[in-house]
Amino acid sequence: MRAAFLGPPGVGKGTQAVRLGDKLGLVHICTGDILRQAVAEKTEVGLEAKRYMDAGDLVPDEVVVRVMEERLERADCTRGYILDGFPRTVAQGQALDKVLHEHGQALDKVIFVNAPDDVLVKRLSGRRTCSECGAVFHVDTLPPKVDGICDNCQKPLVLRDDDRAETVRERLRVYHNMTAPLIDYYRDQGLLIDIPGERDIDEVQSMIEEQFSGTIAT
Ligand code: AP5
Repeated sequence: MRAAFLGPPGVGKGTQAVRLGDKLGLVHICTGDILRQAVAEKTEVGLEAKRYMDAGDLVPDEVVVRVMEERLERADCTRGYILDGFPRTVAQGQALDKVLHEHGQALDKVIFVNAPDDVLVKRLSGRRTCSECGAVFHVDTLPPKVDGICDNCQKPLVLRDDDRAETVRERLRVYHNMTAPLIDYYRDQGLLIDIPGERDIDEVQSMIEEQFSGTIAT
């Protein structure tokens, strides 16, 4: 099974991609996480990516595609994977198709989770991310057991730099210009599944799992 999550910033792609990956026993691959790790490690990719991420812009396609081509070659991808935040432009979608085609593979499903911008702004301003393990919480909708502390590793929770209001506005603008065209790209291929992301987290999870009912072991 090879599936990709598509949707605006803050809609819950990461939250749901982790849950689906756990259910299906597949690796969850988030380009944002890979790029943030590269930034933290100050690698060549990280140094290049940082200025785009800080501004709320997309990292150039050639950089992201190179990173993902390497990532998809790893052994944990043999049985399939859940992509989160990639592809994010039509050029990235075409590059992914080419890589898959070269391996005699194809994407099985694209889960398009959507919600209005005002909902996204509230989710991103309330998101808190673990500084150590990357687990994601929300001050209102998914609070940690102890305020400001990660449930999993007890390290402090932080507001992501790009979740500040000005950067969020730019990320939404970039999404509507650069990523939204992928909706038709995948709808035309018959791969797109529409999921209403305004519902609560567990309801969204159930709707997504229904789409994988033949694959999830009960
Ligand atoms: P990335 O980290 O991928 O950010 P994003 O796409 O903007 O998505 P987010 O992580 O912000 O949101 P999400 O949809 O995963 O929501 P979450 O589940 O956390 O990318 C960051 C940057 O890296 C980009 O801006 C770009 O610069 C670069 N980049 C990454 N990929 C790239 C690519 N392919 N090409 C070029 N550049 C790339 O949920 C949000 C909050 O809401 C959480 O607090 C959560 O608890 C809460 N929540 C989730 N679902 C619900 C719900 N149903 N109800 C209530 N609350 C909810």
